[in-house]
Amino acid sequence: MATLEIRDLHVTVDTPDAGAKEILRGVDLTVRAGETHAIMGPNGSGKSTLAYSIAGHPRYTVTGGTVTLDGEDVLAMSVDERARAGLFLAMQYPVEVPGVTVSNFLRTAKTAVSGEAPSLRHWTKDVKSAMDALRMDPAFAERNVNEGFSGGEKKRHEILQMELLKPKVAVLDETDSGLDVDALRIVSEGVNRVRETGETGLLLITHYTRILRYVKPDFVHVFVAGRVAEEGGPELADDLEENGYDRFLDSSSPVTA
Ligand SMILES: Nc1ncnc2c1ncn2[C@@H]1O[C@H](COP(=O)(O)OP(=O)(O)OP(=O)(O)O)[C@@H](O)[C@H]1O
Ligand SMILES: [Mg+2]
Repeated sequence: MATLEIRDLHVTVDTPDAGAKEILRGVDLTVRAGETHAIMGPNGSGKSTLAYSIAGHPRYTVTGGTVTLDGEDVLAMSVDERARAGLFLAMQYPVEVPGVTVSNFLRTAKTAVSGEAPSLRHWTKDVKSAMDALRMDPAFAERNVNEGFSGGEKKRHEILQMELLKPKVAVLDETDSGLDVDALRIVSEGVNRVRETGETGLLLITHYTRILRYVKPDFVHVFVAGRVAEEGGPELADDLEENGYDRFLDSSSPVTA
């Protein structure tokens, strides 16, 4: 059973004016295949920094702690090696890849991740049925990755990648943001298909409980000021929706009640 383990992770980001600034301040998190985790937390609490750090983005420096996938040191891996090891990251702001079609991009990614080119016949069928399920126009396969895609189209494309690459652990950063009601449902169905295989651990980063109505998390973690401040079940997400993050942010002020 695949397990991603994050222990006491400290991460700094290089800023042009203030030098290295500590963003993650001791994150502990364990995600196993078949589990769905939600990370919620206010703007600027470090959620995307966590996703970038797991992905190996060069701007973020790990200054302490460990990240392992099935015991293997993720932090020692290159970005490519992380993908091959079974990690999948869908970023909050997906980038354009000019000159590379969706179809070629997916096939190259699949080949890199599984170590051999997928058989063309099966692959074409898999792509077509995954695109159908996400209600993506087949014409998208011949467009350049994310070039001129609407916000919602970019998110569907991320889910398409996830469904085809079958990662061990997937981190989805704000996949629900900017989706209309229908797109949210379609994207959530895609996430649930992956979930139901029982073979992927999901880490959903989100502000709102909107997506959590469709994708039920097993665990909810509240992220505040670069670490996990509280953990619970799905009921914690409802509590946050109702009461906001104030009680976490005001922890330094005197308790009067
Ligand atoms: N490259 C950078 N340069 C300067 N500051 C940065 C950089 N990257 C992140 N930060 C700072 O780190 C903090 C955490 O940012 P991060 O994007 O991880 O937050 P977040 O929880 O994902 O927020 P949101 O909910 O708005 O997406 C913020 O204060 C942000 O300004
Ligand atoms: Mg973010």
